Amino acid sequence: MGSLDGKVAFITGAARGQGRSHALRLAAEGADIIAVDLCADFDTVNYPQGTKAEFDETVRQVEALGRAVVGSVADVRVRPDLESVVAAGMERFGRLDVVVANAGIYPGQGGTRCEAFVDATDVDLIGVMNTVAVSLPHLQSGASIIVTGSTAGMIDGATDKLGPGGSGYSWAKRTIASYVEVLALQLAPQMIRLNAVHPTNCNTPLLHNIDVYKAFRPDLERPTRDDVIDAFPAMHAMPVPYIEPEDVSSIVAFLASEQSRYMTGLNLRVDAGAMLKPAPV
Ligand SMILES: NC(=O)c1ccc[n+]([C@@H]2O[C@H](COP(=O)([O-])OP(=O)(O)OC[C@H]3O[C@@H](n4cnc5c(N)ncnc54)[C@H](O)[C@@H]3O)[C@@H](O)[C@H]2O)c1
Repeated sequence: MGSLDGKVAFITGAARGQGRSHALRLAAEGADIIAVDLCADFDTVNYPQGTKAEFDETVRQVEALGRAVVGSVADVRVRPDLESVVAAGMERFGRLDVVVANAGIYPGQGGTRCEAFVDATDVDLIGVMNTVAVSLPHLQSGASIIVTGSTAGMIDGATDKLGPGGSGYSWAKRTIASYVEVLALQLAPQMIRLNAVHPTNCNTPLLHNIDVYKAFRPDLERPTRDDVIDAFPAMHAMPVPYIEPEDVSSIVAFLASEQSRYMTGLNLRVDAGAMLKPAPV
C-alpha cells in the first residue's frame, strides 16, 4: 500500500529533473498524475529547457508504474492555460489532492533591459502562484500543496549579484518563503496545507550550465563541470557537491502524505547543511 493510494497530484515542470523525479515518486506511492511542462526555451536562459520527448518519457515512466497521467504542454505563466490543464485532469480523475509547483528557470543571460529579471520572476514566482491559484478551487480538506523555493533565496547575495536574472531568481525564491507562511495561515482552517522545499544545488540541467559554473569560477572564461566540481562542496556543511532530485522527492512525498498532516507553513531546506555555515567574510 502506498501513502498516496487513490490520490491525484498536479506537478509542473515534469519533463525532467526534479519534476520528473517527483512525478515518479508520487506515482510509486499510488497517485495518478496531472503533469505540465513548457517544452520550449527562453532567450534569457543559457541552457535548454525540457523537451517534448523528455516529457513523453516522464509520462511513459509514470504509466510503467501502473498509474494514469494527464500530460499537457503548457506555460505556468499563463493562468488560463493552467486552468484548462487542471480542468482536463479533474474531468479524467474527478479529484485533486496534491499540488507540486516545481517548474523553474535560472536565467543567467542578463541584458541591460532586465528581460532576465522579468522571465525569472514570471516563471519562478508568478508561475508558482498561478499553479496554486488554479488548484485551490478543486482542493478539499486534507489536500497538500508543495512549492519549490531555493537556498538561493535564503543565502544573502547568493545569486543577487549575478545580474538581472540572478537577482530575479533570488527575489522570487525569497518571496516564496514568505508567501508560504502568509497563505498557509489562510488555508489552515480548511485543513489544506502549504509548505515549501528549498533545495541547495541539485544535479539537474538548471545547475549544470555555464552561468552557474561561472558563479563558482569567475576566474575562467568558459568553466566546465570539471572546473567546478571541487568548488561546489565548499557551500555545504556536509562534503557533497550537490544533492540528487530524489532527495527532494522524498521530502515532497512526505509533505504530500498524511504523515505530515499537521505540518503547514514550513520552509524546509534540503541543503546538506549549507545554511548552517557562517557567511564568508
Ligand atoms: N537544480 C538546482 O540546483 C536547484 C536548486 C534549488 C532550487 N531549484 C528549483 O527546483 C525546481 C526544479 O528545477 P530543476 O532543478 O529540476 O531544473 P530543470 O531545468 O531540470 O527542470 C525545470 C523544468 O521546468 C520546465 N519549465 C520551465 N519553465 C516553464 C514554464 N514556464 N512552464 C512550464 N514548465 C516550465 C522546464 O522545461 C524543465 O523541464 C525549480 O523551481 C528550480 O528553481 C533547483
